Amino acid sequence: VTALGPDPSARPIGVFDSGVGGLTVLHELLVALPHEDFLYVGDTARFPYGDRSADELRAFAVEITDVLVEHGAKLIVVACNSATAAALETLAEHVARVAPDVACIGVLEPACRLAVEATRSGCVGLLATSTTVASGAYARTVARLAPGVELVSVPCPKLAPIIQEGFPFDQRVVDTVRAYCKPLLLADVDTVILGSTHYPLVAPMLQRMLGRDVRLVASGPAVAVEVETTLQEGELAHDASAGEGHYRFLCTGDVEAFTTLGTRFLQMPLLHVAGLDLRAEAAA
Ligand code: DGL
Repeated sequence: VTALGPDPSARPIGVFDSGVGGLTVLHELLVALPHEDFLYVGDTARFPYGDRSADELRAFAVEITDVLVEHGAKLIVVACNSATAAALETLAEHVARVAPDVACIGVLEPACRLAVEATRSGCVGLLATSTTVASGAYARTVARLAPGVELVSVPCPKLAPIIQEGFPFDQRVVDTVRAYCKPLLLADVDTVILGSTHYPLVAPMLQRMLGRDVRLVASGPAVAVEVETTLQEGELAHDASAGEGHYRFLCTGDVEAFTTLGTRFLQMPLLHVAGLDLRAEAAA
């Protein structure tokens, strides 16, 4: 049952990801929409999503979205690229049935739109997880938005896990990032989509390796613009007079590990983190 308050605009925005990575997206949302409340679910117990099947990701996405809707989310942001690529359409259909007033926004199309606007040469690179590249979702979206633009996709199976484990960054991280840049340098792309939530953390490394003239497009800023527009169009934006909003977290894995690691990704403190047992939620 959706916890509808008397004022729908005062309800939180629900955000979810495979773990801490989506906090790079939440960071942009907190900056762009300081008056909104946020509830973030990090599915750390089932990280990484990047080598899971599309069927699994669709089931996870529906399960987590149900939790967010039960907590009264007025809008769902799928912060995870792998989940967006596999599950956004399924999720939109599911939400239209269970909570027709709630919109679902993924990270894929907003980033593609920014990238095709940015490219001058018409050759865009994509770094993403294996499941995201295999889904073909970025290639389809770029082809729809800008039929003349070529997309060079590089699956990066090791990159998100190595970034997550890699603090402080060492030579292994540098070598991994460099290897994934190679096909993009060969193809002479002028724009690169950072198609996974973790990659903004290695943006300085990527920029140095690819060259300063290559435009890096991260999902966070792109999706923040779309969320803002959707809230305004639906008259769901929280009143600025309410002051700064709150943000809190549910995670399916170890709460302390999420809090410690999450602070690096969010670049802000994580003060309110609770555990989430999805099987218990499903049974409730
Ligand atoms: N959030 C995931 C993504 O954007 C990070 C990587 C993973 O879970 O494999 O694809």
